[in-house]
Amino acid sequence: MKIFSGSSNKPLAEKTAKELDIEVSPLEISVFPDGERRIRVVDKVVDEKTVVLQSTSTPPDQNYMELFFIIDALKRSGASQITAVVPYLGYERQDHIFRDGEAVSLEVIAQTLQRVGVDKLVAFDLHSIKVPELFTIPVLHLSALDLFAQKIRESLIINHKSLADFVLVSPDMGGIRRIKMLSESLGNMPYATIEKNRDLTTGDIKDSSIEGDVKDKTAIIVDDMISTGRTIIAAEKILLGNGAKRVFVFATHAVFSESAAELLQSLKAEKVFVTDTIFIPKEKIFPKLEMISVSGVIAEGLRNF
Ligand code: R5P
Repeated sequence: MKIFSGSSNKPLAEKTAKELDIEVSPLEISVFPDGERRIRVVDKVVDEKTVVLQSTSTPPDQNYMELFFIIDALKRSGASQITAVVPYLGYERQDHIFRDGEAVSLEVIAQTLQRVGVDKLVAFDLHSIKVPELFTIPVLHLSALDLFAQKIRESLIINHKSLADFVLVSPDMGGIRRIKMLSESLGNMPYATIEKNRDLTTGDIKDSSIEGDVKDKTAIIVDDMISTGRTIIAAEKILLGNGAKRVFVFATHAVFSESAAELLQSLKAEKVFVTDTIFIPKEKIFPKLEMISVSGVIAEGLRNF
């Protein structure tokens, strides 16, 4: 197996390759003065199984185009199989029509990835479990939930006596399945859910309500991604307003758009745990942020896929 990396998340590609006991194979990625990209596969890949890792995070269009070209270059160079590892799948939130007249962006992405020649897709904590249904190729849907459960056990529960001191919190109704799975792997830790009301035009969140007991508990918010941070801010506000004692945040994808990093640092939450599905530049790293690597999970997934 040969593994290649796009430019969006080289550290994760390198860590994953290390777990697989191989090196990342070289690619020539050059940018023309007008911004167009040229991709060239350097090594021979004829009849080889190949893997390309690229997170299609910000800037999503550029990262997708680069991924499409890498896949095309591998295909034209004779690779026998191309597996795309897309730890963060951009445009996944627009997976259906929310308002009349909208495009279903994710469907366009799925069709294009398949059209350019991807044979298999590995993705991580997809926004909806229905996303794989948009693809006709095999999709391996990996999750950070086990890593989160491990971290919660190690860093939080160990010093406490009762599970009843904790409450897992889904900051919106879309995350209930995720929270139930995590609760189960933590010995049925209690959970609460927030009904988030977001204005689809402005993105503002208002009049949220909570279902479940959080009073005097350590609340652990778990979400698939943090983009602007507004969901987490609103969740923390409602938790503290309902008497939660301490707050921790876990999210798989650190999208961190706009001023999310500053907003998150200003939270009362003691720690914000995220994974490395998206590369976080230095200027977006803040003291209460802790990163958990998914490289082991991806390597294990690739071995068996
Ligand atoms: C929404 O359904 C997702 O699960 C996240 O809660 C959301 O995308 C986070 O976005 P933001 O950080 O901008 O509130």
